[in-house]
Amino acid sequence: MGEIRESVLKQQLQKEMDEAKKLESRGKGKQAAVHYQNAANIYRRLAYIAPRDYAETFFSSASQYENLGNTLKTTTPYTRAESTEMIETMIISERPKIKWEEIGGLEEVKSTIKEAIVLPFINNKPDFVEAPKAILLYGPPGTGKTLLAKAATNTLEATFFEARTSTLLSKYFGESSKIISMLFSKAKEKQPSVIFMDEFDSIMVSRDRDLNESTRRVVGQLLQEIEGFASKVEDKIILIAATNKPWDLDDAMISRFQRKIYVPLPDQEARKAIIEIHIKGVTLEGITINSLSERTEGFSGRDIANLCREAVMTMIREKNPKLEELTSGQIEKYTMSYRPLKEKDFKKAFEKIRPSVEPDSIKKYSEWGKQMGM
Ligand SMILES: Nc1ncnc2c1ncn2[C@@H]1O[C@H](COP(=O)(O)OP(=O)(O)OP(=O)(O)O)[C@@H](O)[C@H]1O
Ligand SMILES: [Mg+2]
Repeated sequence: MGEIRESVLKQQLQKEMDEAKKLESRGKGKQAAVHYQNAANIYRRLAYIAPRDYAETFFSSASQYENLGNTLKTTTPYTRAESTEMIETMIISERPKIKWEEIGGLEEVKSTIKEAIVLPFINNKPDFVEAPKAILLYGPPGTGKTLLAKAATNTLEATFFEARTSTLLSKYFGESSKIISMLFSKAKEKQPSVIFMDEFDSIMVSRDRDLNESTRRVVGQLLQEIEGFASKVEDKIILIAATNKPWDLDDAMISRFQRKIYVPLPDQEARKAIIEIHIKGVTLEGITINSLSERTEGFSGRDIANLCREAVMTMIREKNPKLEELTSGQIEKYTMSYRPLKEKDFKKAFEKIRPSVEPDSIKKYSEWGKQMGM
């Protein structure tokens, strides 16, 4: 008797779950919620008739689907038009203006990227030439990953999608995977395309335990999409992702990237190049780029940019002490005074700007790289 009842309930459960998932995948969250809550009720009934060992699992499934139902109910999914609009905003019609020359150092990284991004777009190439479709840039914060990705897209005559991970991770349960699949089909429609996903690690992280399910689905969808275009030579789509927390990515995701490129902290030569870029147009007096490059050991490109900015502003404040008192009528006519940058400007700047990357964390990157066989 009990067994028959149990099997009937399980059948009903299956029906409710199938229906819920089907509706949810079509973005009909509110309707899906009803079926998830029916499923929760069935789980609860199963729990009452099940042996003790199983009861607990059934109860926990019941509350899981109850919660899922509640979440779906209280969030209003985007309409199709809204989702389409969202994808449209990811298409950057104005190309990023970053040029390769504006990125100091990283010569090897730059040529690897330059080479990697042209290969998939060459039609006539022998079969044995591997053309990476997915490239992962990883390394400490502020080392130029975003700059590199932008310069890369600047080189190509392609439609450029900047897919913000925060946009992809829609706060509405169940919407993210839909947005991802729309993004990739748009990229296919508009190919050749480059999809840039910055802060890629955040796609794997669930801030909320309830969102685990959603995160898993997003990752699954993304894996499937990458697999889709990566295996088709004729699809002229490449994905460039950047992260400073590569260890947060799961193995299946990492394996989809045929090229993983480490973007390190700048060495002294690179620091020289970066300083030159950031004090372009400024004269130095009694101080050299060489000495500055020696004193900035451990600084990231971003730290160096901040340091130079701070030194310039120290000089500007000294030469223009009344700057903040200018009235709106005076601003337009005001001529700014300046002088060459001196040691005292940098001394002040060094007091304010310290290296932002912990030396210990550098080890973490190389260990991760080794683990990945790089
Ligand atoms: N190699 C570099 N040459 C010139 N400027 C650089 C370089 N690296 C970093 N910078 C400066 O630092 C800023 C931040 O760089 P970028 O956004 O590319 O860092 P990131 O590696 O993407 O950092 P995060 O991991 O925090 O996203 C740039 O806008 C630029 O001013
Ligand atoms: Mg970045």
